[in-house]
Amino acid sequence: MSQLHVINHPMVQHKLTIMRNKETGSKDFRELLKEIALLMGYELTRDLPLEDIEIETPICKTVAKRISGRKLAIVPILRAGMGMVEGLLTLVPVAKVGHIGLYRDEETHNPVVYFCKLPEDINDRLVIVTDPMLATGGSACDALSMLNERGCNNIRLMCLVGAPEGIERVRREHPDVDIYLAAVDDHLNEAAYIVPGLGDAGDRIFGTK
Ligand code: PRP
Ligand code: URA
Repeated sequence: MSQLHVINHPMVQHKLTIMRNKETGSKDFRELLKEIALLMGYELTRDLPLEDIEIETPICKTVAKRISGRKLAIVPILRAGMGMVEGLLTLVPVAKVGHIGLYRDEETHNPVVYFCKLPEDINDRLVIVTDPMLATGGSACDALSMLNERGCNNIRLMCLVGAPEGIERVRREHPDVDIYLAAVDDHLNEAAYIVPGLGDAGDRIFGTK
């Protein structure tokens, strides 16, 4: 069963509160999202395996640790997931980046695919899918299925705010995917927006409304 990790670190919670405030403009919103992605990435990578290697410091030879196992790939769900990439790349500069383009149909709330470009060796990597908003879960589930079709079997989903409906759906349809969130909100409204949420993440990042 997939694990749900809620990152309740005070720095994350404080920054998220500023993001939720409707008075916060795009510049601050983007910066905060980047900072939170880095902080959440720190928790998401907490259990990566280490191996011993022999190195030589200026003083002597010694055995030290380095990360072993699978290399990483970051896959943002466009557009809003892009806002979390830079923060994660600060943490893991050598990660490859793929892109999955999905938008929610305004009437049906179902996701529509318009773009997919992934690293060739994505199936050999630990994949971190990013999207600040997990509402109905439709976009995340479609993105995860697209990655499964490409042979990915080691995926983590990193969002900022999740609704119970979306969390439940991802856990049901993708029980092998761990979910990382900064907050579990109350419910979805009739337009399938997260309540209290933070509004339309893509529009707030890119200033399109
Ligand atoms: C938003 C958000 C998620 C999706 C969440 O994207 O960034 O991708 O909705 O909703 P769901 O869980 O109900 O699928 P949107 O479709 O607004 O596109 P955008 O990021 O380009 O603004
Ligand atoms: N997409 C958003 O950007 N916000 C929501 O609350 C739901 C979907």
